[in-house]
Amino acid sequence: MSILPERVELKTPEQILVMRRSGQLLHRVHEMLAERIRPGITTDQLDTLAHDMIRDEGATPNFLGYQGYPATLCISVNDVVVHGIPDDRPLEEGDVVSIDGGCIVEGWHSDAARTHIVGSPRSVADEDLVRITEDALWAGIAALASAERVGEVSAAIEDCVAEAAGESLSHLEGFGGHGIGTAMHQPPDVMNYRTRSRGARVRPGLCVAIEPMLIQGPGNWELEDDDWTVRATGGGRAAHAEHSVAVTDRGLLVLTAGDGGAAELARRGVVAAPDPLADGAGGDAAD
Ligand code: MF3
Ligand code: CO
Repeated sequence: MSILPERVELKTPEQILVMRRSGQLLHRVHEMLAERIRPGITTDQLDTLAHDMIRDEGATPNFLGYQGYPATLCISVNDVVVHGIPDDRPLEEGDVVSIDGGCIVEGWHSDAARTHIVGSPRSVADEDLVRITEDALWAGIAALASAERVGEVSAAIEDCVAEAAGESLSHLEGFGGHGIGTAMHQPPDVMNYRTRSRGARVRPGLCVAIEPMLIQGPGNWELEDDDWTVRATGGGRAAHAEHSVAVTDRGLLVLTAGDGGAAELARRGVVAAPDPLADGAGGDAAD
């Protein structure tokens, strides 16, 4: 860790509008994938669907080619935590499948992940895993609304998991969220648990991807020989939930949520920023 704070790219409202367009497209890609995921489909097929939709919309997949990454999506099944590479194995009933994707619109990146259970859940523990991961994400997002420092987001995620799961879920040590904008990964780090650092200052124009990754049981993991696949080694399954979020002078905007985060934030007592796409102020109307 350096002594000087890393330089954070603060975005103008005009730039946040383009990031919202990037995020809204990514939201629609995730909606499409949610409809297509079912037993029998391969993760390669899901990857092709996402790739073609992003391209057809005139955008660019940002994972593809990133440090040599070979696909549009990361699809992580069961004990794979993150960065699973799509392949030709058909999904099965009860699989826990996290889909992580991103795109670039006019130079501005988005990044978001969801975890699905294919068909009927195998266990209550799997349902809890997915629900608590999603909850931890929204707890972190809601904390950002009033945070002075990014570390408050990390603390909210840690507390949410501890309260909902006790010791039954572990975070993925060493991985976390990040700034996002003209690159997919920028400063500041957004850890999923408390650290010694208070984190970067929160101010209008800050855009971050918040992304809790949770594992059933102990948090041990290993990196596979492909240098990407992160696999849990304690016998548990894993989930991942992620949104890209903008701090604006009118509140928080969840760039990769269909409604800009309005509904989930309201449930937590936070009013979302007005969605710049909703009034036709420079893009397609939000759906
Ligand atoms: N959302 C992922 C992350 O922030 C992006 C993975 S980059 C890729 O870690 F190259 F693996 F695609
Ligand atoms: Co990310």
